[in-house]
Parts: sequence; structure tokens; C-alpha cells
Amino acid sequence: MAFAYSEKVMDHFTNPRNVGEIENCSGCGTVGNAQCGDIMRVYLDIDEDSRIRDVKFKTFGCGAAIATSSMATELVKGKTIQEALEVTNKAVMEALDGLPPVKVHCSLLAEEAIHAALWDYAERKGIVIEGLEKPK
Ligand code: FES
Ligand code: FES
Repeated sequence: MAFAYSEKVMDHFTNPRNVGEIENCSGCGTVGNAQCGDIMRVYLDIDEDSRIRDVKFKTFGCGAAIATSSMATELVKGKTIQEALEVTNKAVMEALDGLPPVKVHCSLLAEEAIHAALWDYAERKGIVIEGLEKPK
């Protein structure tokens, strides 16, 4: 069963949430996966209370990247920036009932793209987000 996908992964792959773009976003970030060349872009709309009002993503990536981005965006929506930083790729994989080992790297794309978008937001605002590392 090494390549079996959970029902949740299949659900988020076939019916991904939060696909699209946000015009005039508060921050956006694009990252590439060094292992496979897949690309992801995340758009954030952040309100005055540092809460993520909306989030959208676009990816040129595999099914696991789509499913993890869909779940990751669902998990950060409505959260504060600090809460969103706790949504790690591990947390996303758990929420999806796991991924096959060869697809674990795909889940990093979503986490990295969200972090890159937060970094962009912080730079535009001229603020420092505690615990956020500069994207590679
Ligand atoms: Fe890019 Fe997986 S290698 S789709
Ligand atoms: Fe490229 Fe999944 S194989 S992100």
C-alpha cells in the first residue's frame, strides 16, 4: 500500500479549496520544489488585526502538492499570523491522514509558499514577524 492515498487526499485533489488569485493581496509568495521543479504561488489577504481574511493558491504541481495546498490554505484561513506559522507541513499531512513517503516533499511546497507570502507581507509593512524565517 506504499502508494495509497487517503480519502482526504483524494477529496482535496479532486475538489481543491482556495484555488485562484487575490487581486491587491497583502502579501504573496512563489516557491519552487528543488526535487521536482514544481511551482506554487500563494496570495494572502490580511486584515488590520493580523488575521488571514482570505488565502488563495495556484500551483504547477502534482496531485499531492494540490491536496496539501488545499488543506494548508483551509487551515490558515481565519487564523492570526502567529497561529498560521504553527500550520507546518507535518500538521497538514496529519490533517490529510498522511501521504506516501515519496510525496512528503510535496507538502513542503505549501508551507514554504505561505511563509514566503507572509515574508512579503512583512516586508511591505516594514514589520518583523516573530518566528518567520526568510524564504530561500
Ligand atoms: Fe512534478 Fe511531481 S514531479 S508533478
Ligand atoms: Fe513535485 Fe509533488 S512531485 S510537488
